[in-house]
Amino acid sequence: MAEFERHSYDVVVIGAGGAGLRAAIAAHDAGARTAIICKSLLGKAHTVMAEGGAAAAMGNLWPDDSWRVHFRDTMRGGKMLNNWRMAQLHAQEAPERVLELEEWGALFDRTPDGLISQRDFGGHRYARLAHVGDRTGLEMIRTLQQRAVALGIDVFMECTVTEVLTDDGAVAGAFGYWRESGRFIVFETPSIVLATGGIGKVYEVTSNSWEYTGDGHALGLRAGAPLINMEFVQFHPTGMVWPPSVRGILVTESVRGDGGVLKNSEGERFMFNYIPDFFKAETADTEEEADGWYDDKKNNRRPPELLPRDEVARAINSEIKAGRGSPHGGVFLDIASRRSPEFIQRRLPSMYHQFKELADVDITAEPMEIGPTCHYVMGGVEVDADTGASAVTGLYAAGEVSGGMHGSNRLGGNSLSDLLVFGRRAGLNAAYYAGRLSESRPQVSERDVTAAGKAALAPFSDAGRVDENPYTLQKDLQATMQRLVGIIRTREELTQALVELETLKERAKHIQVEGHRQYNPGWHLALDLANMLLVAECVATAALEREESRGGHTRDDFPLPSEDWGSKNLVLTEKDGVVSLKHQPLQTMPGELQQLFEEE
Ligand code: FUM
Repeated sequence: MAEFERHSYDVVVIGAGGAGLRAAIAAHDAGARTAIICKSLLGKAHTVMAEGGAAAAMGNLWPDDSWRVHFRDTMRGGKMLNNWRMAQLHAQEAPERVLELEEWGALFDRTPDGLISQRDFGGHRYARLAHVGDRTGLEMIRTLQQRAVALGIDVFMECTVTEVLTDDGAVAGAFGYWRESGRFIVFETPSIVLATGGIGKVYEVTSNSWEYTGDGHALGLRAGAPLINMEFVQFHPTGMVWPPSVRGILVTESVRGDGGVLKNSEGERFMFNYIPDFFKAETADTEEEADGWYDDKKNNRRPPELLPRDEVARAINSEIKAGRGSPHGGVFLDIASRRSPEFIQRRLPSMYHQFKELADVDITAEPMEIGPTCHYVMGGVEVDADTGASAVTGLYAAGEVSGGMHGSNRLGGNSLSDLLVFGRRAGLNAAYYAGRLSESRPQVSERDVTAAGKAALAPFSDAGRVDENPYTLQKDLQATMQRLVGIIRTREELTQALVELETLKERAKHIQVEGHRQYNPGWHLALDLANMLLVAECVATAALEREESRGGHTRDDFPLPSEDWGSKNLVLTEKDGVVSLKHQPLQTMPGELQQLFEEE
């Protein structure tokens, strides 16, 4: 064990999406010796699935926009369960972070006056998404990655962390393995930033790719950092539904932001039937009003397709359930009859190619078939808003793996600005903390390293095993979550989900992987499965407890939001494999912010 590859840094960032890259750049700029570890290839991150843009109140199209309006939209989108301080910092700092990205080389689309162009998205009162066609996340990753590499930040690619190592409750390092060789690697560091993204792979239909197995959520939880808001899972209203091989792939909200409308099998623009009271004042309830919005932007009553995602996903779900779905189990998204082919190809080039290549559908001439797809988890590691610090000394989190910012539902476009704002804050504070420690750093214990190595090799051991296959187990987990912890939930189903998860956990103890440690995806999945099972249990446990419907959590047996539940979060902890849950009151919003809602 003593001969493991070892490295020593001031700050180690786990994850190389937008949050991880931005955190690493900030830590490096603050003088910390910084490394990025990523499970996949550098640049392959779910950030690229935020296609439509980064929300920032720059006021380029609507001078009336301001951080206050953005803050209010974000809080209302999250049904007031957001960590208000995070929502405030996010709205205040997003414009600066976007401009900084431009200075670093990001090529945003422009207005005729040469300003950064901003597009409409659901739940945002004004068009405020800075964008690059429908490839904004990709451009952002390209820019951040180029900068991180130019700064000389060390990158450990295709390297998976299996454990955060602690010393007397404080971060001391991380243990992992190289995916290619299977060899173990130890990082000695007092500061870790978790930036591993989401948990989408616990569901069957998802926009997430193979990497998103809740690793950071599980690493944090096992190290002693509580998770909050785990019951809130975002089902993006528009994923591809056909052919089966592409089911779940994202269809950007920009299609609706740029004029696309949703129709059922009867050709009805059904979203007019689903406008909740909460949003009535600002949502058009006739076609003429809605079209006025698109045509001249003078009418501030927005089309119902641009309601927040939870509302739209539920409406689509209802139409399908009522038998008014499309042939392959979705509904229709039509931009062809509303915008010219030239407009569609210029504004939505990726969507045009995606449908042409993958589904043989020309979106400039015919509607798309779409349906909800698991896209994002609002829940994550509970952090201090200003610093990104978790409850574990030296452990920080930013981006999707952190919880609180988006409350019960995230507005589209807020993830890209979130990861810029809080990636930077977490990276800076991780570096400051490491700097303050000077010589007296927590120490990695050899006993912990040996134990981590043993745990990682457990799936190879055949002592008393019943040959469970990790792929079968993953499939069964995804089926359980999709069927019982999906968009619409009930007590019976959630209770049943927890029973099935217990069985899956038991079966996971008997996973047997074949072969050796060199590039062995079955072994990798076996290790990821432990994380997936843990986060799935957190989602189901919190979803069973919250007896109301709010944002990304809809209970058929409690169809309305409740005042009581509207004032608290659910916080999850783990000890010796047992997940516990407690209720935690929301922090009180200061008067000057509360007033923003009263003024309205
Ligand atoms: O629809 C989209 O382009 C996704 C954006 C987001 O999740 O923020």
